[in-house]
Amino acid sequence: MSASSDSKKKTEPVSSRAAALALLAGAVRDGKAVDTRFQKVAGTLEPRDRAFVRLLVATTLRRLGQIDAVLGHFVTRTPLPPVEDTLRLGVAQILFLDTAPHAAVDTSVELVKRVRQSKMTGLVNAVLRKVVSQGKDLLAEQDTLRLSTPGWLWDGWVKAYGNKTAQQIAAAHLVEAPLDLSLKDVAAIDTWAAPLKATVLSTGSLRCQASGLIQELPGFKDGAWWVQDAAAALPAKVLLNELDNPKGKSVVDLCAAPGGKTLQLASAGCAVTAVDRSDMRLDRLRENLTRIGVQAGIVKADATDWTPKQKFDAVLLDAPCSATGTLRRHPDLGYVKTRKEIRGYPDNQKVLLRKSSEMLMPGGVLVYAVCSLEPGEGADVVEAVIKDGNFSQLKIDPKPLGANAKWIDEAGALRILPSFWSDKGGLDGFYIALLRKT
Ligand SMILES: C[S@@+](CC[C@H](N)C(=O)[O-])C[C@H]1O[C@@H](n2cnc3c(N)ncnc32)[C@H](O)[C@@H]1O
Repeated sequence: MSASSDSKKKTEPVSSRAAALALLAGAVRDGKAVDTRFQKVAGTLEPRDRAFVRLLVATTLRRLGQIDAVLGHFVTRTPLPPVEDTLRLGVAQILFLDTAPHAAVDTSVELVKRVRQSKMTGLVNAVLRKVVSQGKDLLAEQDTLRLSTPGWLWDGWVKAYGNKTAQQIAAAHLVEAPLDLSLKDVAAIDTWAAPLKATVLSTGSLRCQASGLIQELPGFKDGAWWVQDAAAALPAKVLLNELDNPKGKSVVDLCAAPGGKTLQLASAGCAVTAVDRSDMRLDRLRENLTRIGVQAGIVKADATDWTPKQKFDAVLLDAPCSATGTLRRHPDLGYVKTRKEIRGYPDNQKVLLRKSSEMLMPGGVLVYAVCSLEPGEGADVVEAVIKDGNFSQLKIDPKPLGANAKWIDEAGALRILPSFWSDKGGLDGFYIALLRKT
């Protein structure tokens, strides 16, 4: 049962809204990512409240521009941050979730007392009551797509893809991302579709309708699958197709943790070395390898200055990036990051790509991937590094991947946007290029 329909039956306590308030404020005021902080908060909440908090915070962030525009009709002077954020959460519940209006108003009034703003209870009550009666009409007049997208992201998409595509990308972000799974035994995909209530995507991922705890889904304990967006599964598939017979081929997975792509490569029989600089994330990679029952060498190192003893048949470089392709899953991204902050990524990506060429045997193949929508982190990086003369770019064949031919850009890379497959539930944004060492 979804948290929103759950909320019709029983109102989640003020404590869960207080947790939501802290997470929202952390993101919009202090630039702190919600996910990492949520892990800490989650332990203090009941499982059903956990789902509610996650949904409430994500919805408020997804719709923040619209929510603020509605509030602008009823609040003449911006209130203090805890009051403003309480109002935002209240509006999200009234206009975008199934929370009963009286419950949304009453719990917001209680919440504002909790944050020691008791004298603002009258304002919160009055404003939210107006939102209950007039909010839906105000929403109907809004430019939803523009308002729900932070300005710096919108401008970047219009510049890179044009106004129409920017709108389609923004529309994709209003919808929560589906749950996609990758199979250890890809040949068994049809057998798992029914128990998981999933559809088989042409790219070889399962897209689930199932809800509830992931750990309780069929096949989790047996290590039959792992969670991985269908687009995130494509870089390793591109590499495996190019390797033809991947069994025993030596592959280094750079920036590997928590290991979604390592698992794909290892399940296909590659001799994988997974490199990452984060101890914590490598622990998760180890846990994932154990659960799925496959092996990989693990190296804790900074890939920019790691020199392996032997050269590899292939490299998969899933470079650190702005992650702007994952906004459906991380609606806080547009608020915790800024254009200025993401400016440094391309230089680092070029360093990593150049370093990767030293790890490859002559003729070896490399897949460069970023979950970013920024051309500066994708095609521009590849173009710049190719000029060194160490790589040539190969055209990716979409057919064996089950991908759409329109996803291939002029140079032969996959340029996936969140608006693709909108009728099926969308995809994360990814740029994936296939290179050969010359
Ligand atoms: C996009 S995530 C990788 C996701 C992973 N490939 C997967 O499929 O599950 C980026 C990873 O890069 C790692 N990382 C960032 N800079 C690095 C560097 N210079 N050397 C090694 N790892 C790095 C981070 O610790 C993080 O785990």
